[in-house]
Amino acid sequence: MKKTLALALAVVMSLGLMAGCGPKEPANPSPQPGGSTTPPSSASQSKGGDASSIPEAPAGGGTIGVCIYKFDDAFMTTYRNALQEILEGKGYKVTVVDGNNDQAKQNEQINTFITQGVDALIINPCMTSAADQIIKTVKEANVPTVLINREPTADQMSAYDKLVYVGCDAAQSGTFQGELILETANKGDINGDGKVSYIMIQGDPENIDAKLRTEYSVKALTDAGIQVEELDLQRGDWDRNRGQEIAQNDLAKFGDQIEVVFCNNDDMAIGALQAIQAAGRKVNEDIYLVGVDALDAALNEVMNGNMTGTVLNDAVGQATEAVNQMELLLSGTTYGAGEQSVYVPYVKVTPDNAKDFVG
Ligand code: BGC
Repeated sequence: MKKTLALALAVVMSLGLMAGCGPKEPANPSPQPGGSTTPPSSASQSKGGDASSIPEAPAGGGTIGVCIYKFDDAFMTTYRNALQEILEGKGYKVTVVDGNNDQAKQNEQINTFITQGVDALIINPCMTSAADQIIKTVKEANVPTVLINREPTADQMSAYDKLVYVGCDAAQSGTFQGELILETANKGDINGDGKVSYIMIQGDPENIDAKLRTEYSVKALTDAGIQVEELDLQRGDWDRNRGQEIAQNDLAKFGDQIEVVFCNNDDMAIGALQAIQAAGRKVNEDIYLVGVDALDAALNEVMNGNMTGTVLNDAVGQATEAVNQMELLLSGTTYGAGEQSVYVPYVKVTPDNAKDFVG
Protein backbone atom coordinates (compact mmCIF):
# COMPACT_ATOMS: atom_id res chain seq x y z
CA MET A 1 0.00 0.00 0.00
CA LYS A 2 2.77 2.38 1.00
CA LYS A 3 4.64 1.51 -2.17
CA THR A 4 1.61 2.09 -4.37
CA LEU A 5 0.86 5.36 -2.69
CA ALA A 6 4.44 6.51 -2.88
CA LEU A 7 4.67 5.72 -6.57
CA ALA A 8 1.35 7.46 -7.12
CA LEU A 9 2.78 10.47 -5.33
CA ALA A 10 5.83 10.43 -7.55
CA VAL A 11 3.56 10.44 -10.59
CA VAL A 12 1.40 13.17 -9.11
CA MET A 13 4.56 15.13 -8.46
CA SER A 14 5.68 14.75 -12.06
CA LEU A 15 2.24 15.71 -13.32
CA GLY A 16 2.07 18.60 -10.91
CA LEU A 17 5.44 19.77 -12.08
CA MET A 18 4.46 19.48 -15.71
CA ALA A 19 1.23 21.32 -15.09
CA GLY A 20 3.17 24.07 -13.38
CA CYS A 21 1.27 23.68 -10.11
CA GLY A 22 4.23 22.55 -8.01
CA PRO A 23 7.93 23.19 -8.03
CA LYS A 24 8.93 23.34 -11.67
CA GLU A 25 10.84 20.56 -13.29
CA PRO A 26 12.45 21.19 -16.64
CA ALA A 27 10.65 19.87 -19.69
CA ASN A 28 12.04 16.84 -21.45
CA PRO A 29 15.68 17.73 -22.14
CA SER A 30 16.32 18.62 -25.72
CA PRO A 31 19.49 17.56 -27.53
CA GLN A 32 22.21 20.21 -27.50
CA PRO A 33 25.03 20.70 -29.94
CA GLY A 34 27.88 18.52 -28.86
CA GLY A 35 25.77 15.53 -28.03
CA SER A 36 24.72 16.34 -24.47
CA THR A 37 21.25 17.36 -23.38
CA THR A 38 20.65 20.19 -20.97
CA PRO A 39 17.34 20.74 -19.23
CA PRO A 40 16.12 24.29 -19.66
CA SER A 41 16.62 26.37 -16.57
CA SER A 42 13.79 27.22 -14.22
CA ALA A 43 13.50 29.66 -11.36
CA SER A 44 12.16 27.16 -8.86
CA GLN A 45 14.01 25.19 -6.21
CA SER A 46 13.26 21.70 -7.44
CA LYS A 47 14.75 20.85 -10.74
CA GLY A 48 15.88 17.99 -12.83
CA GLY A 49 14.90 15.91 -15.81
CA ASP A 50 11.30 15.03 -16.58
CA ALA A 51 10.74 11.73 -14.80
CA SER A 52 7.64 10.95 -16.82
CA SER A 53 9.40 10.68 -20.16
CA ILE A 54 12.54 8.69 -19.56
CA PRO A 55 14.36 7.91 -22.76
CA GLU A 56 15.27 4.31 -23.52
CA ALA A 57 18.66 4.56 -21.83
CA PRO A 58 20.96 1.56 -21.51
CA ALA A 59 18.36 -0.08 -19.25
CA GLY A 60 18.84 -3.78 -18.79
CA GLY A 61 22.55 -3.75 -19.43
CA GLY A 62 24.25 -1.38 -17.08
CA THR A 63 26.26 -2.00 -13.95
CA ILE A 64 25.38 0.23 -11.02
CA GLY A 65 27.25 0.82 -7.77
CA VAL A 66 25.18 1.95 -4.79
CA CYS A 67 26.92 3.34 -1.68
CA ILE A 68 24.82 3.61 1.50
CA TYR A 69 26.19 5.56 4.48
CA LYS A 70 25.36 2.69 6.83
CA PHE A 71 23.12 -0.35 6.53
CA ASP A 72 22.22 -0.10 10.22
CA ASP A 73 19.78 2.80 9.69
CA ALA A 74 16.07 2.01 9.72
CA PHE A 75 15.03 4.52 7.05
CA MET A 76 17.97 3.85 4.73
CA THR A 77 17.23 0.13 4.94
CA THR A 78 13.80 0.66 3.37
CA TYR A 79 15.37 3.05 0.87
CA ARG A 80 18.19 0.75 -0.21
CA ASN A 81 15.87 -2.24 -0.54
CA ALA A 82 13.61 -0.16 -2.79
CA LEU A 83 16.58 0.99 -4.88
CA GLN A 84 17.83 -2.55 -5.33
CA GLU A 85 14.38 -3.84 -6.27
CA ILE A 86 13.74 -1.08 -8.81
CA LEU A 87 17.20 -1.33 -10.40
CA GLU A 88 17.13 -5.13 -10.60
CA GLY A 89 13.57 -5.01 -11.90
CA LYS A 90 14.88 -2.92 -14.77
CA GLY A 91 17.62 -5.43 -15.50
CA TYR A 92 20.62 -3.57 -14.08
CA LYS A 93 23.44 -5.44 -12.36
CA VAL A 94 23.57 -3.83 -8.91
CA THR A 95 26.05 -3.91 -6.06
CA VAL A 96 25.03 -2.18 -2.81
CA VAL A 97 27.77 -1.53 -0.23
CA ASP A 98 27.72 -0.51 3.45
CA GLY A 99 29.88 2.50 4.33
CA ASN A 100 29.58 1.72 8.07
CA ASN A 101 29.27 5.47 8.63
CA ASP A 102 32.98 5.78 7.79
CA GLN A 103 33.76 8.29 5.03
CA ALA A 104 37.26 6.92 4.41
CA LYS A 105 35.77 3.49 3.85
CA GLN A 106 33.12 4.89 1.52
CA ASN A 107 35.78 6.76 -0.49
CA GLU A 108 37.52 3.43 -1.06
CA GLN A 109 34.25 1.83 -2.10
CA ILE A 110 33.65 4.61 -4.64
CA ASN A 111 37.17 4.14 -6.03
CA THR A 112 36.65 0.39 -6.27
CA PHE A 113 33.39 0.85 -8.19
CA ILE A 114 35.18 3.25 -10.55
CA THR A 115 38.03 0.78 -11.11
CA GLN A 116 35.47 -1.92 -11.83
CA GLY A 117 34.01 0.31 -14.54
CA VAL A 118 30.44 0.84 -13.26
CA ASP A 119 28.16 2.76 -15.62
CA ALA A 120 26.68 4.92 -12.88
CA LEU A 121 26.84 5.50 -9.13
CA ILE A 122 24.14 6.24 -6.57
CA ILE A 123 25.73 7.60 -3.40
CA ASN A 124 24.33 8.33 0.06
CA PRO A 125 27.38 10.15 1.50
CA CYS A 126 28.55 9.28 5.01
CA MET A 127 29.34 12.92 5.63
CA THR A 128 27.86 15.91 3.86
CA SER A 129 31.22 17.63 4.32
CA ALA A 130 32.79 15.01 2.02
CA ALA A 131 30.67 16.14 -0.93
CA ASP A 132 33.46 18.12 -2.59
CA GLN A 133 35.80 15.15 -2.54
CA ILE A 134 33.14 12.73 -3.79
CA ILE A 135 32.13 15.06 -6.61
CA LYS A 136 35.79 15.56 -7.63
CA THR A 137 36.35 11.79 -7.72
CA VAL A 138 33.30 10.94 -9.83
CA LYS A 139 33.95 13.86 -12.13
CA GLU A 140 37.54 12.81 -12.80
CA ALA A 141 36.30 9.30 -13.56
CA ASN A 142 33.46 10.72 -15.69
CA VAL A 143 30.87 8.51 -13.97
CA PRO A 144 27.25 9.81 -13.94
CA THR A 145 26.25 10.09 -10.29
CA VAL A 146 23.07 10.52 -8.28
CA LEU A 147 23.59 11.70 -4.71
CA ILE A 148 20.80 10.81 -2.30
CA ASN A 149 19.59 11.63 1.23
CA ARG A 150 22.30 14.14 2.21
CA GLU A 151 22.09 17.26 0.13
CA PRO A 152 25.23 19.20 -0.81
CA THR A 153 24.98 22.87 -1.73
CA ALA A 154 24.06 23.93 -5.26
CA ASP A 155 27.51 25.44 -5.52
CA GLN A 156 29.24 22.16 -4.68
CA MET A 157 27.15 20.23 -7.20
CA SER A 158 27.77 22.75 -9.96
CA ALA A 159 31.34 21.39 -10.23
CA TYR A 160 30.04 18.40 -12.25
CA ASP A 161 27.26 18.49 -14.82
CA LYS A 162 26.59 14.72 -14.77
CA LEU A 163 25.56 14.88 -11.13
CA VAL A 164 22.16 15.31 -9.56
CA TYR A 165 20.75 15.16 -6.01
CA VAL A 166 17.46 13.40 -5.23
CA GLY A 167 15.90 13.99 -1.84
CA CYS A 168 13.26 16.07 -0.10
CA ASP A 169 12.89 19.63 1.06
CA ALA A 170 14.02 19.12 4.66
CA ALA A 171 12.43 22.36 5.87
CA GLN A 172 9.00 21.04 4.80
CA SER A 173 9.25 18.03 7.12
CA GLY A 174 10.06 20.31 10.06
CA THR A 175 7.13 22.58 9.24
CA PHE A 176 4.81 19.57 9.11
CA GLN A 177 6.02 18.44 12.55
CA GLY A 178 5.22 21.87 13.97
CA GLU A 179 1.81 21.80 12.29
CA LEU A 180 1.05 18.41 13.88
CA ILE A 181 1.50 20.08 17.26
CA LEU A 182 -0.53 23.14 16.23
CA GLU A 183 -3.37 20.81 15.25
CA THR A 184 -3.67 19.34 18.76
CA ALA A 185 -6.48 20.51 21.04
CA ASN A 186 -4.27 22.86 23.08
CA LYS A 187 -1.68 23.61 20.36
CA GLY A 188 0.95 21.88 22.45
CA ASP A 189 0.39 23.91 25.60
CA ILE A 190 -0.84 21.04 27.76
CA ASN A 191 -0.36 22.75 31.11
CA GLY A 192 -1.85 26.04 29.91
CA ASP A 193 1.06 28.21 31.03
CA GLY A 194 1.12 30.14 27.75
CA LYS A 195 4.15 28.45 26.24
CA VAL A 196 5.05 25.15 24.65
CA SER A 197 7.95 23.51 26.48
CA TYR A 198 9.75 20.93 24.38
CA ILE A 199 12.79 18.76 24.05
CA MET A 200 14.43 18.28 20.65
CA ILE A 201 16.08 14.96 19.83
CA GLN A 202 18.23 15.71 16.83
CA GLY A 203 19.73 13.47 14.15
CA ASP A 204 23.36 13.94 13.12
CA PRO A 205 23.64 17.75 13.18
CA GLU A 206 26.07 17.65 10.24
CA ASN A 207 23.11 16.57 8.14
CA ILE A 208 20.88 19.24 6.62
CA ASP A 209 17.76 17.16 7.40
CA ALA A 210 18.64 17.37 11.09
CA LYS A 211 19.41 21.10 10.95
CA LEU A 212 16.28 22.11 9.08
CA ARG A 213 13.85 19.79 10.88
CA THR A 214 15.11 21.20 14.18
CA GLU A 215 14.69 24.76 12.98
CA TYR A 216 11.42 24.54 11.07
CA SER A 217 9.45 22.41 13.54
CA VAL A 218 9.83 25.15 16.14
CA LYS A 219 9.45 27.93 13.57
CA ALA A 220 5.98 26.62 12.65
CA LEU A 221 4.98 27.25 16.28
CA THR A 222 6.57 30.67 16.60
CA ASP A 223 5.19 31.73 13.19
CA ALA A 224 1.74 30.90 14.59
CA GLY A 225 2.41 33.27 17.48
CA ILE A 226 3.07 30.53 20.03
CA GLN A 227 5.69 31.06 22.71
CA VAL A 228 8.17 28.21 23.04
CA GLU A 229 10.68 27.06 25.61
CA GLU A 230 13.48 24.67 24.66
CA LEU A 231 14.22 22.52 27.69
CA ASP A 232 16.86 20.46 25.93
CA LEU A 233 18.38 19.81 22.50
CA GLN A 234 20.61 16.78 22.06
CA ARG A 235 21.97 14.80 19.17
CA GLY A 236 20.59 11.28 18.95
CA ASP A 237 22.32 10.50 15.63
CA TRP A 238 19.10 9.06 14.13
CA ASP A 239 19.41 6.10 16.51
CA ARG A 240 16.59 4.45 18.49
CA ASN A 241 18.69 3.70 21.59
CA ARG A 242 19.98 7.26 21.73
CA GLY A 243 16.40 8.52 21.44
CA GLN A 244 15.41 6.35 24.37
CA GLU A 245 18.37 7.47 26.52
CA ILE A 246 17.90 11.18 25.85
CA ALA A 247 14.16 11.06 26.52
CA GLN A 248 14.69 9.00 29.67
CA ASN A 249 17.21 11.49 31.08
CA ASP A 250 15.10 14.49 30.14
CA LEU A 251 11.93 13.00 31.60
CA ALA A 252 13.80 12.38 34.86
CA LYS A 253 15.17 15.92 34.83
CA PHE A 254 12.22 17.98 33.58
CA GLY A 255 9.24 15.71 34.37
CA ASP A 256 5.84 17.26 33.65
CA GLN A 257 7.44 20.39 32.25
CA ILE A 258 7.94 18.53 28.96
CA GLU A 259 4.89 18.99 26.77
CA VAL A 260 6.34 18.09 23.36
CA VAL A 261 9.05 15.68 22.24
CA PHE A 262 10.28 16.56 18.75
CA CYS A 263 12.37 13.82 17.15
CA ASN A 264 14.14 14.38 13.85
CA ASN A 265 13.20 10.83 12.81
CA ASP A 266 10.89 7.98 13.74
CA ASP A 267 13.54 5.59 14.97
CA MET A 268 14.48 8.06 17.73
CA ALA A 269 10.77 8.70 18.38
CA ILE A 270 10.17 4.98 18.92
CA GLY A 271 13.03 5.03 21.44
CA ALA A 272 11.58 8.15 23.09
CA LEU A 273 8.19 6.44 23.30
CA GLN A 274 9.72 3.60 25.30
CA ALA A 275 11.06 6.16 27.79
CA ILE A 276 7.74 8.04 27.87
CA GLN A 277 5.83 4.86 28.65
CA ALA A 278 8.39 3.78 31.26
CA ALA A 279 7.95 7.16 32.95
CA GLY A 280 4.18 6.56 33.15
CA ARG A 281 3.33 9.34 30.72
CA LYS A 282 0.62 9.04 28.06
CA VAL A 283 1.08 10.47 24.57
CA ASN A 284 -1.69 12.79 23.40
CA GLU A 285 -2.90 13.15 27.01
CA ASP A 286 0.01 14.60 28.98
CA ILE A 287 2.76 14.77 26.31
CA TYR A 288 3.01 15.00 22.50
CA LEU A 289 5.48 13.06 20.35
CA VAL A 290 6.30 13.53 16.66
CA GLY A 291 8.82 11.97 14.28
CA VAL A 292 9.64 11.86 10.58
CA ASP A 293 9.87 8.95 8.08
CA ALA A 294 6.58 7.00 8.52
CA LEU A 295 8.38 3.77 9.37
CA ASP A 296 5.85 0.97 9.79
CA ALA A 297 6.53 0.83 13.55
CA ALA A 298 5.77 4.55 13.85
CA LEU A 299 2.63 4.29 11.73
CA ASN A 300 1.35 1.64 14.11
CA GLU A 301 2.03 3.90 17.08
CA VAL A 302 0.27 6.82 15.36
CA MET A 303 -2.75 4.58 14.76
CA ASN A 304 -2.64 3.36 18.39
CA GLY A 305 -2.46 6.93 19.68
CA ASN A 306 1.07 6.47 21.05
CA MET A 307 2.58 8.99 18.67
CA THR A 308 0.93 12.30 17.81
CA GLY A 309 2.02 12.05 14.20
CA THR A 310 4.86 11.63 11.77
CA VAL A 311 5.83 12.75 8.26
CA LEU A 312 6.16 10.41 5.30
CA ASN A 313 9.74 10.49 4.05
CA ASP A 314 8.98 8.68 0.83
CA ALA A 315 11.74 6.09 0.44
CA VAL A 316 10.11 4.36 -2.53
CA GLY A 317 9.30 7.66 -4.25
CA GLN A 318 12.89 8.86 -3.76
CA ALA A 319 14.35 5.55 -4.95
CA THR A 320 12.12 5.70 -8.03
CA GLU A 321 13.20 9.25 -8.77
CA ALA A 322 16.88 8.44 -8.14
CA VAL A 323 16.69 5.69 -10.78
CA ASN A 324 14.82 8.00 -13.18
CA GLN A 325 17.54 10.62 -12.79
CA MET A 326 20.28 8.03 -13.18
CA GLU A 327 18.72 6.94 -16.48
CA LEU A 328 18.53 10.53 -17.67
CA LEU A 329 22.23 10.95 -16.90
CA LEU A 330 23.02 7.66 -18.67
CA SER A 331 21.17 8.88 -21.73
CA GLY A 332 23.37 11.97 -21.90
CA THR A 333 21.47 14.59 -19.92
CA THR A 334 23.67 17.18 -18.26
CA TYR A 335 22.67 19.72 -15.62
CA GLY A 336 23.47 23.38 -15.21
CA ALA A 337 24.23 25.06 -11.91
CA GLY A 338 21.15 25.51 -9.74
CA GLU A 339 19.28 22.69 -11.53
CA GLN A 340 20.73 19.76 -9.64
CA SER A 341 18.26 19.13 -6.81
CA VAL A 342 15.12 17.06 -7.35
CA TYR A 343 12.66 16.93 -4.45
CA VAL A 344 10.00 14.34 -3.66
CA PRO A 345 7.25 15.75 -1.43
CA TYR A 346 6.84 14.89 2.25
CA VAL A 347 3.33 14.03 3.51
CA LYS A 348 1.95 14.83 6.96
CA VAL A 349 0.75 11.67 8.73
CA THR A 350 -1.99 11.68 11.39
CA PRO A 351 -4.23 8.95 12.83
CA ASP A 352 -6.67 9.78 10.01
CA ASN A 353 -4.40 8.82 7.11
CA ALA A 354 -1.71 6.64 8.75
CA LYS A 355 -3.20 3.38 7.49
CA ASP A 356 -2.71 4.56 3.89
CA PHE A 357 1.06 4.39 4.31
CA VAL A 358 1.53 0.99 5.96
CA GLY A 359 3.81 -1.17 3.78
C1 BGC B 1 15.89 10.15 7.76
C2 BGC B 1 16.54 9.45 8.91
C3 BGC B 1 17.82 8.82 8.46
C4 BGC B 1 18.71 9.84 7.79
C5 BGC B 1 19.98 9.23 7.26
C6 BGC B 1 16.86 11.12 7.13
O1 BGC B 1 16.26 11.71 6.01
O2 BGC B 1 14.75 10.84 8.20
O3 BGC B 1 15.71 8.47 9.46
O4 BGC B 1 18.48 8.26 9.58
O5 BGC B 1 18.02 10.42 6.72
O6 BGC B 1 20.79 10.20 6.65
